[in-house]
Amino acid sequence: MQRFAQTFGVLLAVAVLGGSATAKDVPELKSESFELPTGDRMFTGAGADPVNNNCLTCHSAGMVLVQPKLSKTTWEGIVKKMINVYKAPVPDSDVAGIVDYLSNGPTGGK
Ligand code: HEC
Repeated sequence: MQRFAQTFGVLLAVAVLGGSATAKDVPELKSESFELPTGDRMFTGAGADPVNNNCLTCHSAGMVLVQPKLSKTTWEGIVKKMINVYKAPVPDSDVAGIVDYLSNGPTGGK
């Protein structure tokens, strides 16, 4: 009997929830235009390409350029964190070049 009640409860929930999801109940979403302060600086100098290609999607170059001079190991850790924690889609083949560029002291200009 208890089993019947559970099953019936589930069926009832499916019927109620399923039935309420009709198009007319979906609220109409509105949107506003706004501008994000992305910055227009790029990385410059030898080896900057993979960094410009992979590191400007989520934040500006300033996020990198504001850092003090860091060791290669530290940059390696930061790049891995971008990939593993923040899901930055960086191709494996670009990682070494990015880490080299950053540990040589990244430069930015226009
Ligand atoms: C998928 C989005 C994304 C991409 C792509 C990305 N980052 Fe980040 N980055 C973040 C987020 C999120 C933070 C954390 C911001 C915070 O902590 O407030 C961050 C922070 C940083 C910081 C500040 C220090 C720190 O560790 O929090 C540095 C330096 C940095 N990113 C470098 C890079 C480099 C170099 C690349 C290219 C390999 C890159 N990011 C690509 C999302 C991204």
